[in-house]
Amino acid sequence: MSDHAPKPPQEPGEDPIRHHVFDGIAEYDKRLPNWWLLTLYASIIFAIGYWMSTQHFRRPTDGARVTAAIQEIRAAKLAAAGNYDDAVLAEMSRNVGIVTAGAATFQSTCASCHGANLEGGIGFNLVDATWVHGGKPSEIMKIVTEGVLAKGMPTWGPVLGPKKIAEVVAFVLSKQPSS
Ligand code: HEC
Repeated sequence: MSDHAPKPPQEPGEDPIRHHVFDGIAEYDKRLPNWWLLTLYASIIFAIGYWMSTQHFRRPTDGARVTAAIQEIRAAKLAAAGNYDDAVLAEMSRNVGIVTAGAATFQSTCASCHGANLEGGIGFNLVDATWVHGGKPSEIMKIVTEGVLAKGMPTWGPVLGPKKIAEVVAFVLSKQPSS
């Protein structure tokens, strides 16, 4: 049957009937219920707000929060491990929390001689890729722990302890141009 079929008769007060008739079947033009419309509009508004909050207000994404949490756990494990070999120190140098802690120690303890940007001064430049006492992470750890008293580099082992020294070495490593 075509669109032009006559519409069925309507009772007063009934919902309007849609224009089209298919195979003799006509449909009421029912209004969508308010709860349905409300849910639709509320979810549209929520979607815009959520999109703004993740894309424009720099709220950390779930992925970033998980990565940060894993880094924190790794940092705690690395610090507890106590054996600061080359591999452990290299991993520490890629850990934001450890490097931040090391940076604080560096600024308060080392910057007076090695410069706020590690550019050197009384002490050597620590970012010029030239290492007088060896540039392997464990070698840097050793020189910071033991110092070179005769040349004016203090012995930091008893002052800072291994954990803080490992952090500060991680910070120095993180600042190397090649890493
Ligand atoms: C009182 C000044 C002074 C302070 C403070 C100081 N250093 Fe030094 N540092 C030196 C001097 C001087 C040397 C050079 C030693 C030499 O001539 O062998 C040196 C050497 C070094 C070296 C060896 C560099 C190389 O080329 O092998 C490292 C690594 C180092 N310092 C790290 C640190 C760290 C980390 C701290 C903070 C915990 C620190 N220093 C604090 C004076 C200082």
